[in-house]
Amino acid sequence: MTDIRPAAAGIVWLALCTTAWAQPATSKPAAADDLRAMYATSQDVAEGKRLAQESCARCHGANGVSATAGIPHIAGQRAAYLHLQLRAYKQGGRPQSPMSGAVGFLSEDGLLKVAAYYASLDPPQRVATKAPPPRPDPLQAGKSAAAACGGCHGSAGVTSIPGTPSLVGLDPSYFAAAMAGYKTGARKSDVMAGFAAGLSDAEFNNLGLFYATQKPAKAPTKAPARPPPRSAEAATARRG
Ligand code: HEC
Ligand code: HEC
Repeated sequence: MTDIRPAAAGIVWLALCTTAWAQPATSKPAAADDLRAMYATSQDVAEGKRLAQESCARCHGANGVSATAGIPHIAGQRAAYLHLQLRAYKQGGRPQSPMSGAVGFLSEDGLLKVAAYYASLDPPQRVATKAPPPRPDPLQAGKSAAAACGGCHGSAGVTSIPGTPSLVGLDPSYFAAAMAGYKTGARKSDVMAGFAAGLSDAEFNNLGLFYATQKPAKAPTKAPARPPPRSAEAATARRG
């Protein structure tokens, strides 16, 4: 009885060693390092999903379809391509961007897993690009914001109040700079400082766009009801 034990233990030990040796051979096929992501297992993908939720989803979306301009979709992209890009960010092979920080603390293994996860997803559908833009139309937004200005500057930017400028046809960048000037106090006007204070740069741009696209017309204050006879005579004299 007692001399069987060492033999049994030996068999168990041998079995453990065999599985330990066999493991790496099955999960890491002899493939070029660049292509390793293509051979990811479903467990890699599951772990990649967890990593992605922690470190990528806030920018690229949990489904890899970005809702933010300037951030690319990555869902359904080829695993090997994604893996290559991630390594390039980590090693400084692509220009400094928000990505450099995002991949900085992920291990080589982690990069492979998030690449495998995003590659496993469906690519963005065409309908997604056809859907109306999530942000309101800037021109429409400008028109709504301009409702607060119409009392002085006219509903379409043509004023009828002396001492108040018309805003129609102003270059949008000039317009935005003027508003910023009122906001910071670089340009002095108690009235306008109050209006500019509550608005953002984006709203300045929207408003500027709205006024720039309105039909130009002369301010009614500039045209007197009846032309004064003297200037009419002078005009006639000049013409004659
Ligand atoms: C702070 C926001 C942010 C986070 C977090 C982030 N990304 Fe990015 N990602 C970007 C931006 C912005 C770009 C475009 C940068 C550029 O032009 O190089 C980008 C580009 C990429 C690209 C290149 C796509 C291509 O086709 O060129 C990949 C791949 C990518 N991200 C994957 C990831 C993964 C995986 C994670 C999580 C580990 C992640 N990103 C986290 C913002 C982010
Ligand atoms: C109570 C009247 C009043 C209201 C309301 C008003 N403004 Fe003005 N605005 C003025 C006056 C007066 C000036 C001239 C101030 C100065 O001397 O710089 C002016 C000047 C401006 C200028 C500079 C134009 C130029 O040619 O340099 C801009 C731009 C402007 N306003 C935009 C707006 C916008 C946008 C709103 C609404 C959010 C608004 N204003 C609301 C009275 C008003």
